[in-house]
Amino acid sequence: MLLTLPIGTTVLVRPIEPEDKPLLSLGLKTLSPETAMRRFLTLKTSFSAAELRYLTEVDQVDHIALVAVDADHGFLIGVARCVRVAPDTAELAIVIGDPWQRQGLGRALVDELAVRASAQGITRFSGTMMATNRGAVRLMRGFGTHIDRDLIESGVREIVVQFASSAQLVAPMH
Ligand SMILES: CC(C)(COP(=O)(O)OP(=O)(O)OC[C@H]1O[C@@H](n2cnc3c(N)ncnc32)[C@H](O)[C@@H]1OP(=O)(O)O)[C@@H](O)C(=O)NCCC(=O)NCCS
Repeated sequence: MLLTLPIGTTVLVRPIEPEDKPLLSLGLKTLSPETAMRRFLTLKTSFSAAELRYLTEVDQVDHIALVAVDADHGFLIGVARCVRVAPDTAELAIVIGDPWQRQGLGRALVDELAVRASAQGITRFSGTMMATNRGAVRLMRGFGTHIDRDLIESGVREIVVQFASSAQLVAPMH
């Protein structure tokens, strides 16, 4: 799927592939420390070989992952994934590179992930984020049809949202 951000960048959104390991390694190095910290809740600067296998060799059933790449130059712009933690619930994780934040891409990736997750029987996303992470909180709280849980403990906020079944979801991208 292709979409164009308000700043003019054309973005290709596609399922992650095992061959994306170098793309992810490079992408992590381009993140600001703040963005990396918000995504991983620790100061992450590199992935181990095992982490790269886990992040890229996914079944797209219990672990669904999408990458957003610059359609013209091929570099990584964002990654969104969800991992099933209960029959109907998956843990959501997402990062958008700093230059492309606040362009609607996070919302578009989560919507697309929900369409794919719903087709696998998942109807709830849970998200864990720093309590001060206003963008992630807004993204999660503005998504779905019902908020099941919203708790803050030790500076970490956990939000669980329900979303519509696949029959009701319409892919937002063209
Ligand atoms: C959180 C994140 C994924 C949002 O992606 P994005 O592409 O910037 O978000 P969007 O442009 O789609 O905006 C989604 C919503 O969040 C809001 N938002 C985004 N960044 C925000 C910020 N810094 N402060 C306040 N609101 C913000 C937008 O206004 C929008 O709200 P609306 O739909 O109600 O108008 C992105 O900022 C990011 O990668 N952050 C670092 C990693 C992270 O925090 N991951 C989440 C935990 S795993």
